[in-house]
Amino acid sequence: MAETTARPIAPAKGKLGVVCVGLGAVASTFIAGVELARQGKARPIGSLTQLATIRLGKRTENRTPFIKDFVPLAGLDDLVFGAWDPIPDDCYESCLKCGVFDKHEHVEPIKAYLQTVKPMPAVFDQYYVKRLQGTNVKPGKSKRDWAEALRKDLRDFKAKNGCDRLVVVWCASTEIFIQPGPTHRTLESFEEAMNANDVSIAPSMLYAWAALQEGIPFANGAPNLTVDLPVMERLARDKRVAIGGKDFKTGQTMLKTVLSPMFKARMLGVAGWYSTNILGNRDGEVLDDPESFKTKEESKLGVLEYILQPKMYPELYGNLYHKVRINYYPPRGDNKEGWDNIDIFGWCGYPMQIKVDFLCRDSILAAPLVLDLALFFDLAQRAGMSGVQEWLSFYFKSPQVAPGLYPEHDLFIQHTKLKNTLRFLMGEEQITHLGLEYYEYGKE
Ligand SMILES: NC(=O)c1ccc[n+]([C@@H]2O[C@H](COP(=O)([O-])OP(=O)(O)OC[C@H]3O[C@@H](n4cnc5c(N)ncnc54)[C@H](O)[C@@H]3O)[C@@H](O)[C@H]2O)c1
Repeated sequence: MAETTARPIAPAKGKLGVVCVGLGAVASTFIAGVELARQGKARPIGSLTQLATIRLGKRTENRTPFIKDFVPLAGLDDLVFGAWDPIPDDCYESCLKCGVFDKHEHVEPIKAYLQTVKPMPAVFDQYYVKRLQGTNVKPGKSKRDWAEALRKDLRDFKAKNGCDRLVVVWCASTEIFIQPGPTHRTLESFEEAMNANDVSIAPSMLYAWAALQEGIPFANGAPNLTVDLPVMERLARDKRVAIGGKDFKTGQTMLKTVLSPMFKARMLGVAGWYSTNILGNRDGEVLDDPESFKTKEESKLGVLEYILQPKMYPELYGNLYHKVRINYYPPRGDNKEGWDNIDIFGWCGYPMQIKVDFLCRDSILAAPLVLDLALFFDLAQRAGMSGVQEWLSFYFKSPQVAPGLYPEHDLFIQHTKLKNTLRFLMGEEQITHLGLEYYEYGKE
């Protein structure tokens, strides 16, 4: 057996504050779900940190602990929640308005707790999210002042709640499409632009800057440009903080990153992939604005290109027509319907079709991802893994990677990467699935 040593990891002692930017459908469903699980009223289904096991060693060793017993993670009882939102609703009001959980079964029984989670005034500018208006916003007009106020919020939250550590997760609306430019290159250019209220500095970047300056990990659940900037990558390394994103991989894109590796593994061609969605929650309304949709579209379109590698297989994927649509349709609320029509072709070029109709619940799929990301980012931080957390690509539509690398989108490669990273952290052998040692010819 190869020699392996565990990495030093600081213990998960004390309270972990999870501060969400945004207290809408995803964040309120996450917070309420954790509280329901803590009280034994519901199960945290969809969360690897709570339910998954991990195989260690050979298949004959029968060692498969739960991940939460294998790596030192914060426990659910140690979590404290905070949020910022321009809409002043507390978590109880937000749960009722978003309509994800059943009011009587899952919201009323934990009303008193949910009412204690109130949003702090947000840094919000309607220029970046056109379809939203809010009153719970920080006063003033200077980006520098807002960013400094966010730093103070984090310090105050930590002290008031007696937290040992914090993580910040962006669960707020998708901002308009912004391309990285000169102001995002260095800390000097970024701070100069922030001082000058430059339009290239979006609110999400101010939250990220504030968290990193405070030494707090930041995970980005939306597709906006936030921590995937040279300045943030540098700042994260200098301050020794974990960062990562972006855009929670929950519904249609998750299916895409499962189906497309299958086509490629079997060398089946794909002529076209048409994806459309109807969605009626506030996220759907925000994405109805073309500028926010453009940000989402970029994030959703990328995956097929990377998985199918049309340049390497022009005959199979060179002419693939890929289209993604999101249509705001209020009657469905948070219950999104995602349709995919996939035109594939096989032996001698014969065409076939696959239709997928996923009647999903957006926030029910996203909430466990927020939990896992908060716990794993905290683990990474305690294990001294600063900078981009590529091993958590599993959770993102557009995984952030080191400069010069292409992202891994295949869900099962991402899953293996995640589990092997946990084995690496704990000094266990990597699992390669070679398995020759079980056969005579492998022993020769
Ligand atoms: N649910 C999913 O499956 C899923 C998947 C991938 C990504 N996302 C992304 O997650 C985000 C949250 O989704 P949701 O369904 O909860 O949306 P939502 O509209 O219900 O909630 C977003 C909240 O963010 C707040 N907000 C906007 N700008 C803010 C700012 N500058 N500071 C603080 N708060 C701000 C809004 O007021 C709103 O309450 C969206 O960007 C969405 O695209 C969701």
